[in-house]
Amino acid sequence: MSSSISIAQITDTHLFEDIDQYLVGIPTDRSFKAVLAEIKQNISKVDLLLLTGDLSQDSSAASYQRLRDHLDKHEIPAYCLAGNHDDWQIMQTHLPSKYVHLKRSLNIGNWQILLLSSVVVGAVHGYLADAELAWLDQSLNAARDRHILIAFHHPAIPIGSPWMDGICLTNQDQFWEICDRYPQIKVVLNGHAHQDFDKIHQTTHNSVRCLVSPSTCVQFQPQNPNFQIDNQSAGFRHLELFSDGSMQTKIHRLKHNRFIANLHAIGY
Ligand SMILES: [Fe+2]
Repeated sequence: MSSSISIAQITDTHLFEDIDQYLVGIPTDRSFKAVLAEIKQNISKVDLLLLTGDLSQDSSAASYQRLRDHLDKHEIPAYCLAGNHDDWQIMQTHLPSKYVHLKRSLNIGNWQILLLSSVVVGAVHGYLADAELAWLDQSLNAARDRHILIAFHHPAIPIGSPWMDGICLTNQDQFWEICDRYPQIKVVLNGHAHQDFDKIHQTTHNSVRCLVSPSTCVQFQPQNPNFQIDNQSAGFRHLELFSDGSMQTKIHRLKHNRFIANLHAIGY
């Protein structure tokens, strides 16, 4: 167990330029800091943080600078990718630091982590562009002896909520056609859906664990055909990757009902 790679996934932080701004009744800066503190308190060893998009709600420089400063204080390497609310140019300018990175590929132990961009500028849904898929194919071809975790923002398979499934990855067939050729892919890790989701996706030659995780602020109700705010706490996902390619994962949520959406704030 001690040789495992320990990863905390943080997703959909939705920070604002204004530190005190709320999203659906939740102060996103404070809920993010509470989740970071929870990681530090409850996970004895964290090798790296993976931030899977929608880091900022308003793409402001100040929101990325504050995110960087919070992460730097924890002194754990953090790898970030963009979501539909993010601006990649502004992220590149204001996010990188000694601890915060925008690398697309990371080797650790027997594993390789590939970070893709599923962002379509100006749109809410996701799409992996031809260049992104070609890079994925090439990276997988060069890493046949490694176990692979692929991360990007938009869920890679339907998660059972038609409203959300309509704004997930829209070229899933193209993505899975490539994945089917590389049995070393073990995990696909996404954000965007603000909920816990865990399912094995079977392709012709491969089975891949598909994971989606709670936001550090607002939660969406699982399995609901329509958009509905959920009354669960903010949280994060802990993953342990083992050298034989197996893995374990668990969702952690803040206790004592801290940072639950205020449904009155949006008229529910
Ligand atoms: Fe989000």
